[in-house]
Amino acid sequence: MCGIVGYLGNKQAFPILIKGLHRLEYRGYDSAGVALVNNNGELNVYKTKGKVKNLEDYCTDKDISGTVGIAHTRWATHGEPSDANAHPHYSQTKNLALIHNGIIENYLTLKKFLISKGYTFKSETDTEVLVQLIEYVKTEHKLSLYDAVHQALTQVIGAYAIGIIERNNPNVLVAARKSSPLILGIGDNEFFLGSDASPIIEYTNKVIYLNDEEIVKIERNKEVEIRNLKNVVLKPEIKEIEMNLEDIEKGGFPHFMLKEIFEQPKSLNLCMNGRLQKELNEIKLSGITDFGDKFEKANRILISACGTSWHAGLIGKYLFESFCHKPVSVEVASEFRYRNPVIYSNDVLIPISQSGETADTLAAIKLAKDKGAFIYGICNVVGSSISRMTDSGTYTHAGPEIGVASTKAFTTQVAVLIMTALSLAKRMNTIEDSQYKKIVSSLAKIPEQIQEILDNKEQIENISKIFTYAKNFLYLGRGYNYPVAMEGALKLKEISYIHAEGYPAAEMKHGPIALIDEEMPIVVVAPHYSTYEKILSNIEEVKARKGRIIAIVSKGDTEIKKIADYCIEVPTTEECLSPLLTVIPLQLLSYYIAVAKGRNVDQPRNLAKSVTVE
Ligand code: AGP
Ligand code: GLU
Repeated sequence: MCGIVGYLGNKQAFPILIKGLHRLEYRGYDSAGVALVNNNGELNVYKTKGKVKNLEDYCTDKDISGTVGIAHTRWATHGEPSDANAHPHYSQTKNLALIHNGIIENYLTLKKFLISKGYTFKSETDTEVLVQLIEYVKTEHKLSLYDAVHQALTQVIGAYAIGIIERNNPNVLVAARKSSPLILGIGDNEFFLGSDASPIIEYTNKVIYLNDEEIVKIERNKEVEIRNLKNVVLKPEIKEIEMNLEDIEKGGFPHFMLKEIFEQPKSLNLCMNGRLQKELNEIKLSGITDFGDKFEKANRILISACGTSWHAGLIGKYLFESFCHKPVSVEVASEFRYRNPVIYSNDVLIPISQSGETADTLAAIKLAKDKGAFIYGICNVVGSSISRMTDSGTYTHAGPEIGVASTKAFTTQVAVLIMTALSLAKRMNTIEDSQYKKIVSSLAKIPEQIQEILDNKEQIENISKIFTYAKNFLYLGRGYNYPVAMEGALKLKEISYIHAEGYPAAEMKHGPIALIDEEMPIVVVAPHYSTYEKILSNIEEVKARKGRIIAIVSKGDTEIKKIADYCIEVPTTEECLSPLLTVIPLQLLSYYIAVAKGRNVDQPRNLAKSVTVE
C-alpha cells in the first residue's frame, strides 16, 4: 500500500532514493528504509520507524555509497511499526535485500516451511518470509536472482510490488508486481523504480507500467527483460508520462477523496483477501477463531466510535442482533466516556477507528478495559494507539486514507463488521448454513458491484449540479440504510458546508416534515428490501409537501421512479450488504457538490483527519 523507490545507474543512489521517498510521503506511512550495494561489495541496509527525516538523520554517519539501491516507506499490515519490521529486509545470509508493498496471504505456511529448513526471522512481517523464500530457492536450485524471484513468486498468494538487490551483483535489480502498483523509469543508461511516477518524473518521462504477475530484470548497460509468472518473455512497452507531479500523487484524480472513493473495489478486495475464502464460500477471521468464545460468553456487545466510524457501528448493531442474537449498544465515544456507563466484565467492546488515534475512542476503550471488558478493535492503522490497546481485532486493510472525509475506511469497516458477525453466527449456529453461504457469496461480488456504481458517476455529477445551491438537505433511510442516511448527511456537511440531517425515514412525521418545501432536497435511501413499501409511503409524504426527491433505488425499480425527481440505481444484493452499495452514490453526490462550490475537498475547514484531542 505504500512506497517503493529503486535506482540503478551511474549516479550515487542514496540522494535519488531519499528524494523519491519524500515524493511518496503523501501516501501515508509509518517507517522508512534504504538498501545500497557499495563498491566494496557490501550490502548496507538502514531503516527506522517514523518519518523519512528520521532515516536521513540516522544515515548521516553511515556508508551510503553505491550506484544501485532500493528504498521503502511502509504502511504496516503484519507487525507493528518498528525498526525491525521496517523494510528493506535482509535474507538470512545478508546477500539479498528486499522491499515490498502489499500482503503475502500465505506467509504463515511459507514461514513454517522455511523454519523447518533452518531459517530464522528477525521481524514479524510477511515480507521477510518472501526474501527468505527467494534465498532458499536461489540456493537450493542454484538460480540467478531473476530466476529465483520468478520461482519463489509462483508459490506466493497475495498482493505485492517488490524490489530486490544482491550483495555480490551490483549490476542487477529485480522487481515484480501483483495487485500493487509498480512503474519502471527508463533514463539515459540509468533505471528508476517507483510505486507511482512521482519519484521518477524529474529524471525521465519514459516509463514501463508493469502489469500484474510480471517480473522485470534491470541490468547495467543492457535492455530491460520482462517475463510473467508463466515464464513467458514479454516485450517491454515504453510509454511517455504527460501528468505533472501533483496529478501523479493523486493517481490522476483531482482530489485524494475522489481517488479513495474509486479505490473502494480494490480496498474491499484487500480487506477480504485471505479472510473471505471464495472457493470454500466461507469466512475465516483469525480474531474470531482465537477469541470467538469471548463473544459467545458475552451478554452484550458494546460498539464505540466517532463520526463516520460511529455510523459503521450503527450498522454493526443490525448485523450482530439479527445474525448473532446478541444485544448491542452503539455508543458515541465522547458521551460513553463521561456518562458513567454500566459495563459488565463479560461485555465485549468493539472500538472502531480509521486512524486508531481518536482521543474519545481511546478513552472509551480505557474505561471498558478498566471494568474487565474484552476489547476487539476494528482499525485501519497497524500499530496505532487503539490497535495496541485492544485484546484482539481485525484490521480493515483499506490502505492509507488521506482525504479528511472518510470513504474507503467506512466501507471496509462495514465489511469487517459483516465478516465478524457472520463468523460469530456460524460459530454459534445462530445462522442457517444456506443463508450464511448466500450472504458470503454475495459479499464476494460487492467490489465489482461498487465498480458498476462508480461507472455511473456522470449521472450523479449532473444531479449534484442541480442542488449545489441548496441550503439544507434531509437524508432518510430505514433499517440497515438508516445509518447510511446519517453517513450521507455527514459527508455533505463536512466537505460542502451545507447543513444536512440524516434521519430514520419514519421519524420524519415526528418533526422534520415541517421543514419540507419545494426548496428542500430530500435524499432517500430506498433499495428494494424488507421496508420498501414503508419507505415508498415516506416518499409519498415528502412528495405531497413538494419536497425534491433524490432516491437511491435498486436497479430496475419502477415504483419510486414514478414519484422521485431523480433516481440513482444500485445493484441488488443481500439486505445486510446493501450499505456497501447505497453509500457510494452519497459519497459521490457530496464530493461533486463540494467541488461545484469550490470547497477544499481534501482538507475541509475546521476539520482534522484524526481528532487526537477531546
Ligand atoms: C468522517 O468523514 C470524519 N473524517 C470523522 O467523522 C471521522 O470519521 C471521525 O473523526 C472518527 O475518526 P477515526 O475513524 O479515525 O476514529
Ligand atoms: N505487508 C508488509 C508489511 O506489513 C508491507 C506493507 C506495505 O505495503 O507497506 O511490512
